[in-house]
Amino acid sequence: MKVALFSAKKYDQQSFQQWASARLEFSYFDTKLDANSVGLAQGFDAVCCFVNDDLSAPVLDALYQQGIRMVALRCAGFNNVDLDKAKTLGIRVARVPAYSPEAVAEHTVAMILCLNRKLHKAYNRVRDDNFALDGLLGFNLHGKTIGLVGTGKIGKATARILLGFGCRLVCHDLSQDPELVQLGASYMNLEDLFVQADVISLHCPLTPQTAHLVNESSLLLMKDGVMLINTSRGGLVDTKAVIKGLKSRKIGYLGLDVYEQEADLFFRDLSEQLIDDEVFKRLLTFPNVLITGHQAFFTQEALQQICQTTSDNLLAFSENRLAGTEL
Ligand code: NAI
Repeated sequence: MKVALFSAKKYDQQSFQQWASARLEFSYFDTKLDANSVGLAQGFDAVCCFVNDDLSAPVLDALYQQGIRMVALRCAGFNNVDLDKAKTLGIRVARVPAYSPEAVAEHTVAMILCLNRKLHKAYNRVRDDNFALDGLLGFNLHGKTIGLVGTGKIGKATARILLGFGCRLVCHDLSQDPELVQLGASYMNLEDLFVQADVISLHCPLTPQTAHLVNESSLLLMKDGVMLINTSRGGLVDTKAVIKGLKSRKIGYLGLDVYEQEADLFFRDLSEQLIDDEVFKRLLTFPNVLITGHQAFFTQEALQQICQTTSDNLLAFSENRLAGTEL
């Protein structure tokens, strides 16, 4: 079976090549899949895509016309796929629902700690022989209230780590996790969580219901100087409202691993180019903002699991079996 991997980086190639076999032949395209690049899928049986590939209706139509009947997502989120259209066309879509919740949870906590203890500033200061502590004052996480929006696999892994720090957990989800309740977490509506939390971390998927759940009016409910962390999907946050919140000091710390318009920026080296995104550039001017380029998933263990599950999904398709993680 011939598979075209879009948005394929060197590390994707290195890890996927270990799973290549007589039954699975991978070709790698650095470009992301969209209406302009879809022609590259000609002659393949399946496409393998990542978070910023465009699998909207017109692209799915074009894939179908080229004979593609399988989309193997090598990520958990699937907000970039028009699932109704895929179903209508008979294109099967599978994903990797849980490659390493701990990888994302650990990155989330790394962002909380880095912002709080200002490690990004300390790193540069010490390299400059500046050992002054002014401006590096942090707070104890122990005893602080952390608000987790979404307590699925990643939210729960984050909760477990933060319980170890002695934090109080307030959570919001469509359904409660009894194990977290037993461990001392309390569930509440989103508004109460916003009012109570010192740190708010987002771990729910991007859906019409969750789009811009951090916005001008929800920010008004939050504590002054709140820390906001988003390692889930950029669209959960209204970036312009957040910039206002940073300027008014409502937001004291902001950690983003995802960004609403990241498809035009992330996963590429743009250091030699001018970036036209004024909103993103404004974010970078704040000393209390830490941005990473969608790297929370990026551990050796997660990459291995992504390759294994994606290969299993592709083989299931080629053998006309149902993949366990089909959408
Ligand atoms: P999951 O499906 O295990 O958990 C998501 C949770 O959100 C579920 O408990 C669900 O009930 C809850 N939820 C759904 N709608 C909600 C709503 N309206 N309000 C509150 N809660 C709601 O997913 P998992 O694996 O924990 O992943 C969470 C998100 O993390 C994914 O959707 C993806 O967007 C993001 N992600 C980010 C990565 C990164 O590298 N930055 C890597 C992997 C996932």
